[in-house]
This record gives sequence, C-alpha cells and structure tokens, in this order.
Amino acid sequence: MRSVIAIVAAGVCAALAACSDPRPPAGDGCAKTGVHGCGVLDPASEEFHGRVLAELDWDLDACAGCHGADFAGTTKAPTCRTCHADGPTACNTCHEATPTTGAHARHRAGGVTCDQCHRVPTSWKDEGHIRVAGVADPAPAEVTMTDRAAITPTGGTRTAAPAFDPATATCTQVYCHGDVLAAAGGTSEQPRWSTPGGPTPCTSCHGQPPPSHASNACATCHPASAPHIDGVVDVPTACDGCHGSAASPAPPRDLAGNQFITAIGVGAHQAHLTAPSRLSAPLPCATCHAVPATVTAAGHIDSAGPAEVVAALGWDRTTATCGTAWCHRAARPVWTRTGEAACGTCHGVPPANANHIPTFTLRDCVLCHPNTVDGFGNIKFVAGPSGPTTAHLDGDVDAP
Ligand code: HEC
Ligand code: HEC
Ligand code: HEC
Ligand code: HEC
Ligand code: HEC
Ligand code: HEC
Ligand code: HEC
Ligand code: HEC
Ligand code: HEC
Ligand code: HEC
Repeated sequence: MRSVIAIVAAGVCAALAACSDPRPPAGDGCAKTGVHGCGVLDPASEEFHGRVLAELDWDLDACAGCHGADFAGTTKAPTCRTCHADGPTACNTCHEATPTTGAHARHRAGGVTCDQCHRVPTSWKDEGHIRVAGVADPAPAEVTMTDRAAITPTGGTRTAAPAFDPATATCTQVYCHGDVLAAAGGTSEQPRWSTPGGPTPCTSCHGQPPPSHASNACATCHPASAPHIDGVVDVPTACDGCHGSAASPAPPRDLAGNQFITAIGVGAHQAHLTAPSRLSAPLPCATCHAVPATVTAAGHIDSAGPAEVVAALGWDRTTATCGTAWCHRAARPVWTRTGEAACGTCHGVPPANANHIPTFTLRDCVLCHPNTVDGFGNIKFVAGPSGPTTAHLDGDVDAP
C-alpha cells in the first residue's frame, strides 16, 4: 500500500495534523520563504509537490539539496519524513511496492515475482526506471519478460520474444499461457492484462486435454507431482513410466495403478511374460500387442483406451477371453483368473484321438514326445541364446 494513501484520503489539513506537524497549516507556511507555491501540499493543486517533481523529470536529487540527502530536513528546509516515514525515495512512495492494478495481484498469488515481467530498479534513479538519460521516462511502465515467459519448449512454436502491447493490454508469445506450446489448444493463450476476477480455468492455456490427446486421465501420463508451468512438459520416457514396474513395462501396475490380476489391465500378463507354470517359454509383448518404439509412436497412446490387442487373438474384452488364440486350442481361459491353464485344459491327457490310447498317463507321453516332456510328464526346457526354450507350445507338434 502507498505509504501516504491514508493521508490523501483524510485531506491535507487533516494530514498535517495526523503527521503531528507543529507548524501552521498550508497557506501560512508558503509565505515563509516563497520557495514553493502555496499549493505545495495540496494534491489538487498545480503546485502540489508530487506534480512539480514529475515535471522536473522526477529529479529527487534536486530536492535533496535543501531537504537533505536522507530527506530528514536541514537548516534550510523541513523534513519530508513527517509524511513519508521511510523517506520519499522508498519504493512505495509513488506506486505500491506490490501493485494491485491489472493482473498484478493474481500473478503475485501465483508466486510470479516482479523481475519476471520488469527490470526491477534497486534505486528510484536506476536508468530506465523513471528517468532515461536525465529526463523522465514516459509512461507506460516498461514490461520486460526474460524469465519463464521467454522459455521455448521442445517442439515449441515461438515466433518472437514474449511481449506486452500496452495499446491492447495483451501478452503474446508468453510460454506460461501456452502461446508457444506446440498445439495446446487453450482458449486464452494471449491473455489481456486487464481481464478481471474469477479463477483462471484450466482450459485457458491448454485444452483439458490438449487437442492432440486421446485421453483425459492426465495423471496416467503426467505424474501428479510434476511441477506445473516450469518450462518442461513432464512425460516419462522410460517404458515403465506409466505402466509396469522396474522389472517389466507390462502390468502390474496397470494404467489405473492396479496391482492385482483381477483388474483387466493387469490380468495374466505376468503368467505369460515370465511363464512361471513352466508350460511355455516366456512370451514377448509382441505376441499380443504392437510394441511402440517410443512413447509417441503411432498406435501407442494416440487412441482412446483400452489398449489394443492384436486382432488375430480374437480378444473379447466383455468376457476377458481370447477367441482365436491357437495356444489354448478350444479352451477359453479367463484373463483375470488364476489356475486356468494346467495339463488337460488345452488338450486332453492324452488327446482323444487315434494316436493315443485313453489309458496313457503323463508318464507315458515321453515315449513318443521325448523332446517335449520328461518321464514325469514335466515340460522340458533347454537354455537358448535369449532365455529358455521348449518344444511345447512352440506351434509345432513334436512327435515321432
Ligand atoms: C532551495 C531550497 C529548496 C529546494 C531545492 C526544495 N525545497 Fe521544498 N522546501 C524548502 C523550504 C525552505 C520549505 C519550507 C517553507 C516553504 O514551504 O516554503 C520547503 C517545503 C517543502 C514542502 C512542504 C513541507 C512541509 O512540511 O511543509 C514540500 C512538500 C517540499 N518542500 C517539497 C519539495 C520538493 C518535492 C522539492 C524538489 C522538487 C523541493 N521541495 C525542493 C526549500 C526547498
Ligand atoms: C504534509 C505531508 C507531506 C510532506 C511533508 C511531504 N509529502 Fe510528498 N506527498 C504527500 C502526499 C499527500 C502525496 C500524494 C499521495 C498520493 O497522490 O496518493 C505525496 C506524494 C509524493 C510523491 C509521489 C508523487 C507521485 O506522483 O507519485 C513524492 C515523490 C513526494 N511526495 C516527495 C516528497 C518530498 C521529496 C518531500 C519532502 C521534500 C515530501 N514529499 C514531503 C504528502 C507529503
Ligand atoms: C506478470 C507480469 C507482471 C508482474 C509479475 C509484475 N508486473 Fe508490474 N506491470 C505489468 C504490466 C503488464 C503492467 C502494465 C503496463 C502498462 O500499463 O502498459 C505493469 C505495470 C506496473 C507499474 C506501473 C503502474 C501500474 O500499476 O500499472 C508498476 C509500478 C509495476 N508494474 C510494478 C511492479 C512491481 C513492483 C511488481 C512486483 C511486486 C510487478 N510490477 C509485477 C506486469 C507485471
Ligand atoms: C519517485 C517515484 C518513484 C519511486 C521512489 C519508485 N518508483 Fe518505481 N516507478 C515509478 C513510476 C512513475 C513508474 C512508471 C515508469 C514509466 O512509466 O516508465 C515506475 C515503474 C516501476 C516499475 C515497472 C518497470 C518500469 O521501470 O517501468 C517497477 C518494477 C518499479 N517501478 C519498482 C520500483 C522499486 C523497486 C522502487 C524502489 C527501489 C521504486 N520503483 C521506486 C515511480 C517511482
Ligand atoms: C496417454 C498419455 C497422456 C495423457 C492421459 C495426457 N497426456 Fe498430456 N501429453 C502426453 C504426451 C506424451 C505429451 C507430449 C506430446 C508430444 O511431445 O508430442 C503431452 C503433452 C501435454 C501438454 C503440452 C502440449 C503441447 O502442445 O506442447 C499439455 C499442456 C498436456 N499434455 C496436458 C495434459 C492434460 C491437461 C491432460 C489431462 C486432461 C493430459 N495432458 C493427459 C501424454 C498424455
Ligand atoms: C496460466 C496457464 C495455465 C493454466 C491456467 C493451466 N495450465 Fe497446465 N500447463 C501450462 C503450461 C505452460 C504447461 C506446459 C508444461 C509445464 O511447464 O509444466 C502445462 C502443463 C500441464 C500438464 C502437463 C504436465 C506438466 O506439468 O508438464 C498438466 C497435466 C496440466 N498442465 C494440467 C493443468 C490443470 C489440471 C489445470 C487447471 C487446474 C491447468 N493445467 C491450468 C499452463 C497452464
Ligand atoms: C498374452 C497376451 C499379452 C502379452 C504377452 C502382453 N499383453 Fe499387455 N495386455 C493384454 C491384454 C489382454 C490386455 C487388456 C486389454 C484390455 O483392457 O482390453 C493388455 C493390456 C495392456 C496394457 C494396458 C493396461 C491397462 O491398464 O489398461 C498395457 C500397458 C500393456 N498391456 C502392456 C504390455 C507390455 C508392455 C507387454 C510386454 C512386456 C505386454 N503388455 C504383454 C495381453 C498381453
Ligand atoms: C506417458 C505414459 C506412457 C509411457 C511412458 C509408455 N506408455 Fe505404453 N501405454 C500407455 C498408455 C496410456 C497405453 C494404453 C494405450 C491405449 O489405450 O491404446 C499404453 C499401452 C501400451 C501397450 C499396449 C498396446 C497399446 O499400444 O495399446 C504396450 C505394448 C506399451 N504401452 C508399451 C510401451 C513401451 C514399449 C514403452 C516405452 C517405449 C511405453 N509403453 C511407454 C502409456 C505409456
Ligand atoms: C504312442 C505314442 C504316443 C504317446 C505315448 C503319446 N502320444 Fe501324443 N501324439 C502321438 C502322435 C503320433 C501324434 C501326432 C503327431 C502329428 O500330428 O504329427 C501325437 C500328437 C499329440 C498332440 C497334438 C495333437 C492333438 O491331438 O492335440 C498332443 C497335444 C499330444 N500328442 C499329447 C500327448 C500327451 C499329453 C501324451 C501323454 C499323456 C501323449 N501325447 C502320448 C503319439 C503319442
Ligand atoms: C495353454 C494350453 C496348454 C496347456 C496348459 C498344455 N498344453 Fe500341451 N500343448 C498345447 C498345444 C497348443 C500343443 C500343440 C503343439 C505345440 O505348440 O507344442 C501342445 C502339445 C503337447 C504335446 C505334444 C508334443 C508337442 O510338443 O507338440 C505334449 C506331449 C503336451 N502338449 C504335453 C502337455 C503337458 C504334459 C502339459 C501339462 C504340464 C500340457 N501339455 C499343458 C497346449 C497346452
């Protein structure tokens, strides 16, 4: 708040009283020396000292000659500090130290400091503040955005430096408002400084989500803890950034954060990928999905959920089963249940056909399928260059 505002409101005569000035009211005072006009203390007068000072190109040093370098008065002239307690050169003498005009207060509430939009003087007489080359710097105030507003994000669309146009009171090319984001789709990417009140809607700087997006579950892909308007579009690049774990990009966790196989996003991923039942070699993602090379590769996150499963498998989300996957033969195990795949669920033990006698047991299979099973009916594995391999579930019937 300006330090003298209360005084103005109360009127100058009252002000003098409020300042405990011992001298007679203005009028008598001006006759004393004739240095100043009678209206020196009357804000309505052409002779008011603030107005005179502006006309004198704000040269406070000229006043200091009589009123003292610290404006505390000399034998030649009285103190200014009766009314300007911190001295007339204080930052809140001529304007508020923290202005409330336009969108000042809202930016301050958002933690935006003066230096992000202005060159901030350390003294009233810093070049370019109110004086330029010895004369008054004409209005309006200079807006110089060099900090966050000037950021150009990766892939950004900056065409010029961030700028404020006093004529339209509009900002352009300001990073913070989405104007230089690739295609953010905000409704007010070139905001007006004078726009009044109300919270700024999320959609003013970028769409909710931006038009390039297929999903609006922001936290799936942008960590909720990501710093906002910091110059970086926070998207994990690691394949386990949004789904999976350090061990594998496959769920769990799924996109909603689920850990249990009863969630369709988790399901039997690990049963297939690590093959703990030792029925098959571990399967790669590509068995069931087109695998993206990068996060933004075509076919990955550019469509709305659910995730795509390769068409050949005949995946039916409603029943959570695969309709045509050859692996399970006629069986239709449910993706979200355990215990769905044991000897006998996909083919008989033994299969009921001419090649087999119904009384064969698991111990008999080795007689004719020695590459596939051992004498106890366990599936055989051999070490391969990229992990264990087996003749079982490899797409070939191995028999004599
Ligand atoms: C030549 C010396 C001199 C200079 C330079 C001078 N003043 Fe003064 N000023 C005085 C004297 C003496 C008084 C008290 C008597 C009077 O009002 O004439 C005074 C009074 C004032 C008062 C009234 C203070 C009060 O308590 O009554 C104000 C305000 C003021 N000056 C502002 C300024 C400003 C602003 C400047 C610079 C633009 C300035 N003066 C330059 C000599 C000076
Ligand atoms: C009796 C009280 C009083 C004294 C003494 C006084 N001022 Fe002021 N001053 C005011 C008032 C009132 C204003 C106007 C505030 C406003 O416009 O909101 C003001 C405004 C100013 C401004 C701001 C001008 C502007 O346009 O923003 C300056 C600079 C200033 N005074 C300098 C001085 C100096 C230098 C002295 C001493 C030489 C002095 N004042 C003494 C009451 C005083
Ligand atoms: C988000 C950018 C921004 C921030 C932050 C900001 N300003 Fe401003 N400031 C402006 C704009 C825009 C104007 C209007 C310029 C015009 O009128 O042409 C302005 C005007 C001003 C003016 C002229 C008087 C007025 O009220 O219009 C002063 C003085 C000023 N600012 C000081 C400050 C100070 C001190 C701070 C920090 C407390 C600050 N500003 C923070 C953008 C900003
Ligand atoms: C004697 C009066 C006066 C004093 C004292 C003063 N200012 Fe200003 N200030 C102004 C005026 C007038 C403007 C508008 C300048 C313009 O139109 O270019 C301004 C503008 C500004 C601006 C906006 C940027 C600019 O340069 O236009 C900032 C920031 C600012 N002042 C900060 C400060 C700080 C910090 C202090 C204390 C170190 C201070 N002011 C002291 C009169 C003053
Ligand atoms: C499926 C993952 C995903 C979801 C969900 C998502 N985003 Fe994004 N978002 C991204 C990726 C990836 C990028 C980087 C795009 C690029 O580099 O092409 C991005 C970029 C952005 C950008 C910068 C846009 C630009 O033009 O540079 C903004 C803003 C953004 N997202 C906001 C959101 C908001 C708000 C939501 C929720 C309403 C959301 N996102 C949901 C993945 C996502
Ligand atoms: C003042 C402009 C502005 C407003 C208002 C705004 N955003 Fe943003 N938002 C941005 C900018 C700029 C980015 C670019 C990335 C960055 O710097 O954080 C961004 C990025 C994002 C992102 C991507 C993650 C990130 O930070 O990189 C999400 C998610 C997001 N915003 C959500 C929201 C939500 C939710 C709201 C409303 C509560 C909102 N935004 C309001 C400017 C804004
Ligand atoms: C045996 C087939 C199979 C394999 C192998 C497989 N997935 Fe999946 N995946 C699925 C099925 C089925 C879904 C569920 C689709 C749905 O929700 O409609 C799914 C869903 C997903 C989802 C979405 C999760 C969610 O929350 O909606 C991601 C991400 C995923 N898989 C990644 C992977 C990755 C990475 C790999 C390899 C490391 C992999 N999958 C291997 C069958 C498989
Ligand atoms: C920014 C978050 C994010 C990152 C990082 C990410 N994914 Fe995904 N992933 C998703 C989303 C969202 C889906 C669901 C897409 C859908 O609904 O079609 C998905 C689905 C998948 C699927 C299932 C098939 C599909 O496209 O639907 C696979 C496979 C997959 N991701 C692999 C990867 C790989 C490999 C990487 C590393 C290159 C990776 N993901 C990085 C968000 C991400
Ligand atoms: C006496 C030899 C013999 C024994 C013992 C035997 N099989 Fe076979 N099996 C065959 C022959 C021959 C085929 C047909 C090979 C072909 O199609 O090329 C066959 C094919 C199969 C097939 C693939 C065709 C189908 O009908 O599904 C399965 C599965 C199979 N056997 C499982 C078993 C199991 C399990 C056992 C032990 C319980 C077993 N077999 C024991 C000879 C045998
Ligand atoms: C997930 C379904 C599934 C389960 C469970 C399953 N099999 Fe098979 N099995 C097949 C398929 C499909 C074939 C056809 C050929 C191939 O790809 O190996 C087959 C073929 C065989 C064969 C014929 C030899 C061969 O390699 O083709 C034997 C023997 C066999 N299975 C034994 C077993 C035994 C023992 C178990 C229990 C430990 C078992 N199977 C569990 C799907 C299954």
